[in-house]
Amino acid sequence: MGVIIAVANQKGGVGKTTTTANLGASLATHGSRVLLVDMDPQGNLTAAFGQGAYEGPTIADALMDRKVRLPIVSVEERDGPALHLVPASLDLATGEASLMNKLGRELRLRDQLGGISDRYDFVLIDTPPSLGLLTINALVAADRVIIPTEARFFSLQGLQMLQESIEEILYLNPRLKLLGIVLSKYDRRLKEERTVGTYLREHWGNLVFKTEIGSNSKVLEAASVGVSIFSYSGAERAVGAYRELAEEVAARV
Ligand SMILES: Nc1ncnc2c1ncn2[C@@H]1O[C@H](COP(=O)(O)OP(=O)(O)OP(=O)(O)O)[C@@H](O)[C@H]1O
Ligand SMILES: [Mg+2]
Repeated sequence: MGVIIAVANQKGGVGKTTTTANLGASLATHGSRVLLVDMDPQGNLTAAFGQGAYEGPTIADALMDRKVRLPIVSVEERDGPALHLVPASLDLATGEASLMNKLGRELRLRDQLGGISDRYDFVLIDTPPSLGLLTINALVAADRVIIPTEARFFSLQGLQMLQESIEEILYLNPRLKLLGIVLSKYDRRLKEERTVGTYLREHWGNLVFKTEIGSNSKVLEAASVGVSIFSYSGAERAVGAYRELAEEVAARV
C-alpha cells in the first residue's frame, strides 16, 4: 500500500506545487511508482508537467460523482521522470462550491484514492492556498503532510494555524501525521530568512527537514516552460536538492 502525502500550506506562493512536482519527479526517477494529484483549481501542478492545455475529464468530475473514476494521465519526459498525474482545471473551483451540498463531502478524495493507492509507492497531493474543502479532502485522504514554507516572519503564524487545522482533521482521519516542514525557497543571503530558518529549527526540531531548497531561478524557469527540473539544463543544483529531500522523505515514511 502506497503512502499518501498531502503538501499543504494555506499561505500562497510558498512552494507547494513546486515541492509536489519536484519531489514527485525525484521519487519517480529513483524507480518509485508515483501518482501526483492536483487539488488546486489553479491547475499549476497540471501545467508544471506540460498538461496546461489538457481538456479531458479532471479531478472535479471524480469528486462530484462517486461513480466517475479518477482520471489519470501518464507523464513521460525524455530525460525526466515517468509518473502519473490526476489533472485539475478551473472547473474545480465550481466543483468545490457544489461539493458543499454533497453527502460525505470531506471524504470524496479519500474514497477515490482508496481503490488505487496500492498501485503506487507514493501519492502526492498538491493543495490550494486555503484551508477550504479541497485542502480538507486532501488532509482526510492523506497519511502524512509535508508543509513547505518560506523563511519569513509572516509565515510563522500560518504554520501554527495549519497545525491546529491538522489537529482538527484527526477527528476524521486519526492516522494523519506531520511528516515535516521544508524550507522551500530559502535565501540564505537575507538576514530575515536566516533568523527565521534558525528559529524554525529551534522551535520545530527534527520536524524541519535537513534539506533546504535554495531559492533558484532555474526552478522557476523549468516550471514556466512545463517541464520538471530533470529535463531542464542548468538546473543540476536544484536536482541535487530535491533528490536529497526525496531521500529524507523516503527514510521518514
Ligand atoms: N526554490 C525555488 N526557487 C525559486 N523560485 C521558486 C522556488 N520554489 C518555487 N519557486 C517559485 O515561486 C512561485 C511560487 O511557487 P509555487 O507555485 O510552487 O507555490 P504554491 O505554494 O504552490 O503557490 P499557490 O499557493 O499559488 O498554489 C513560483 O513562481 C515558483 O516557480
Ligand atoms: Mg500551488
